[in-house]
Amino acid sequence: MKKNFIFATLLAMVAMTARGQVYLDPKAPVEERVKDALGRMTVHEKVRVLHAQSKFTSAGVPRLGIRQLNMDDGPHGVREELEWDSWNVAHWTNDSCVAFPSLTCLASTWNRDLAALYGHSVSEEFAYRGKDVMLGPGVNIQRTPLNGRAFEYMGEDPYLAGEMVVPYIRSAQANGVACCLKHFVLNDQETDRYSVNVNVSERAMREIYLRPFQKAVEQAGVWSIMGSYNRWQNVQCCHNEALLKGILKGEWRWDGALVSDWDGTHDTWQAATGGLDIEMGTENQNRVKGREYTYDDYYLGNAFEQLVVEGKVPMEVLDEKVSRVLRLMFRTAMNPEKVVGSMCSEAHYEACRQVGEEGIVLLRNEKGVLPIDATRYRRILVVGENATRSLTRGGGSSELKPQRETSPLEALQEAFGSTATVSYAQGYSSGKALYDKVDAVAPTLQDSLKAEALQMARESDLIIYVGGMNKNRRQDCEDSDREGYDLSFGQNELIAELAKVQKNIVVVTFGGNPYAMPWLQQVQGLVHCWYLGSESGTALARVLSGKVCPSGRLPVTFARKYEDYPYVQFGAEAYPGVDRQVHYKEDLFVGYRHFTSRGVKAQFPFGFGLSYTTFAYGKPAVEQSEDGNVVVSVAISNTGKRAGKEVVQVYVSAPKGETHRPVRELKGFGKTRLLQPGESETLHIRMNAADLAQWDETSHRWVQPHGTYTFHVGTNADEMRGKVNVVL
Ligand code: BGC
Repeated sequence: MKKNFIFATLLAMVAMTARGQVYLDPKAPVEERVKDALGRMTVHEKVRVLHAQSKFTSAGVPRLGIRQLNMDDGPHGVREELEWDSWNVAHWTNDSCVAFPSLTCLASTWNRDLAALYGHSVSEEFAYRGKDVMLGPGVNIQRTPLNGRAFEYMGEDPYLAGEMVVPYIRSAQANGVACCLKHFVLNDQETDRYSVNVNVSERAMREIYLRPFQKAVEQAGVWSIMGSYNRWQNVQCCHNEALLKGILKGEWRWDGALVSDWDGTHDTWQAATGGLDIEMGTENQNRVKGREYTYDDYYLGNAFEQLVVEGKVPMEVLDEKVSRVLRLMFRTAMNPEKVVGSMCSEAHYEACRQVGEEGIVLLRNEKGVLPIDATRYRRILVVGENATRSLTRGGGSSELKPQRETSPLEALQEAFGSTATVSYAQGYSSGKALYDKVDAVAPTLQDSLKAEALQMARESDLIIYVGGMNKNRRQDCEDSDREGYDLSFGQNELIAELAKVQKNIVVVTFGGNPYAMPWLQQVQGLVHCWYLGSESGTALARVLSGKVCPSGRLPVTFARKYEDYPYVQFGAEAYPGVDRQVHYKEDLFVGYRHFTSRGVKAQFPFGFGLSYTTFAYGKPAVEQSEDGNVVVSVAISNTGKRAGKEVVQVYVSAPKGETHRPVRELKGFGKTRLLQPGESETLHIRMNAADLAQWDETSHRWVQPHGTYTFHVGTNADEMRGKVNVVL
């Protein structure tokens, strides 16, 4: 027996040397490394790489020197280290990071170069922390303004989200860090997220919900994707054969690894056959610890191994999954080009600030209140909890432990403190929050905070109100949707009363979602900031003081009232669902597609944002290349007095004939460089044929209707500055 064993080992060693351990040769092509490594692994070793071995790692193959995969949230920075086996924080002292702005803010920049800079910078932080897979970014569609997780996504439009996510992924992966794109697919609400089944037309599924994922696969070659918790066609998305094997791996020929969302796997057979590659986070009534329930007890653990050994699941199924995981390992953990990375570098703070500054949206500016002319005001009063609150904490899995964070109050004091007194009143309280519950605020406390703010307002010359949402539960937070469309904590009443006392008032809001603003006509200025991360205060102060000219544009429609959102008319069936079934009855008419097609006036339309300067648009010209691509060119001139950037948006109306179609849809955009007063730039906005196609439900494929297309050049979904027709 012993002799046999020695002989077999010797043979294996000889074979290994003869084959040169291709899997370890960093210069060998990835596919060769995968094939070679696969050929050396035992069935048990193969099964082990398919599931977690801790909260955020999956196993490697120690015998072969194949490294484990280290994963972490994502998507706005590297999450603080947690204990190996639990959700408890590990209390490391060297794991604080740069908190980057929320992805909604990135989308709001409409600047692809900034998306690339973001992906590059954040992935350097992941690399430095030894991570191979970054859990993010997310491109679920902002279908409802109540989605507690919308701040982690890129707005309501699939074209914008797709265009912004591609450069992010490309530059992150160029550093050898995989993106794990979230959450595939239809995870568009947090209410009942673990079980809700989404009913959506084939066409809306393809044109709206799948589209940004498809771009990330086809144009950025994303290396991993996270399945979503919810169901589609009544099957859980983490092991949904039609979705994962049919569309993602079949039609789109994706070669990456599908990672389950944490505890999103429910069945061994489905996980085996339904396209899941790595099972993460499975909880078994909280028995994940040691003896009672081990990682081998995962659905893709021993139970799966047994199916393979018994021949009930063919070896090819196992090998196919393992190949995908090995590919991910060789692309990241064992990639010789993977960067060492860095944490908290000044370059990262700079990137954070730039994204923040370009993502901030100026929504209202009456009587030239902005930028703030500091010489006009002696006494500035800052009111609102978000002026001092850390907004990088909370929100669920995207929570961060920033190394530093500048609050709005600090930055406003710094910006205006030399010429004016800058005082502060909290104005309202959001209550003490734990992850799953928020303590109601005693009305007496709320009243006294308000009274104090109003008293101080009487003795001020300008109010800068800093409020909005926060990352408590029932606000912008994972696992729960917002409590309503209004701002919470009595903010509507507070703002209205402050505005009565002091007409010079600028409202600044943070939040990942649109909200109602019944006090809008009473305030002179309104600025929406999403979440800005570490450089929150600095970015805001630079916009308010005029050092930066705002150029952010809304990636989502701000409706005047909640009832104006397209799905609301269909009642609970359309959101949040009845008996765990939700029906996307608004179909293609999501966000601005509904507002512009049905003539519903938005408070602030999709794509909207003001500037401190003005721009003139030249007459658009169009060119068509043989491969069906279209280039719209338009000259933009800065006609105002300040340097600024303009976002030019191209909305396309398809040939007439079909009624069931939005009147126009975003199919292209560009952003100018910083134009000095009097300066011009001609933008050439390229649109490819695939983006102009539509999904045909009869033939189940993309088609491009022939006829006359109108390319509208606009400043937002409602305001067009020119158009040009082309027969395609
Ligand atoms: C979230 C994921 C996250 C994972 C790990 C899940 O609850 O839905 O987005 O990456 O937890 O924290």
